[in-house]
Amino acid sequence: MPVPFNGADGMPAPLRGPGGMRVERLHDASAAAGDIDAIVELEAESFTNPWSRETLVWELQNSDVTRIYLLRADGGAVLAFCICWVIFDELHINTLAVKPAARRGGLATALLREVMAESAAAGATKATLEVRASNTAALGLYTRLGFHVAATRPGYYTKPEEDALILWRERLDTSP
Ligand SMILES: CC(C)(COP(=O)(O)OP(=O)(O)OC[C@H]1O[C@@H](n2cnc3c(N)ncnc32)[C@H](O)[C@@H]1OP(=O)(O)O)[C@@H](O)C(=O)NCCC(=O)NCCS
Repeated sequence: MPVPFNGADGMPAPLRGPGGMRVERLHDASAAAGDIDAIVELEAESFTNPWSRETLVWELQNSDVTRIYLLRADGGAVLAFCICWVIFDELHINTLAVKPAARRGGLATALLREVMAESAAAGATKATLEVRASNTAALGLYTRLGFHVAATRPGYYTKPEEDALILWRERLDTSP
């Protein structure tokens, strides 16, 4: 069911460019092959160890906690996605990416605001994720959205090997 894109917490929508973008949750029944293709392609161009199509489809079909959100352009093209789990009172953000040509336009911020708002409505009170220590873009994004570094997981990532920072945000029901 499409969610009207209007800034989840009453903040002005931070998008530039033409209106009509929207955040949409993918449900198993509605998952079109083209949407899966778009996520797999964006994963592959964004990460050195991307999720495979098999993992993605399994998550969509078998997991009760998985939520997959897309941010679509006016014409329907997928510009960004976020895959997360809502487990009891915790939102776990597993992967998130924006099309390279559309980065730095506020899309990840807008998508995450919607994801956090929907997760809070589903009972999540806090959020967590892991990020490469060198990923300054993601760290800037999450810091602006109220996350803080809580711990380090040494050598967690491969290709290349790198530490993971574990971030948390408490109080999903408030604006950062
Ligand atoms: C990280 C990522 C999702 C950010 O998406 P985005 O739509 O460009 O982010 P936004 O435009 O909402 O940026 C919000 C803030 O994050 C920070 N930020 C985003 N990109 C940045 C960059 N390249 N360098 C430094 N800070 C950056 C800034 O503080 C920015 O605010 P500003 O533009 O007003 O300065 C995007 O760069 C991406 O897809 N990267 C590859 C995949 C990835 O690393 N995902 C995260 C894994 S946890």
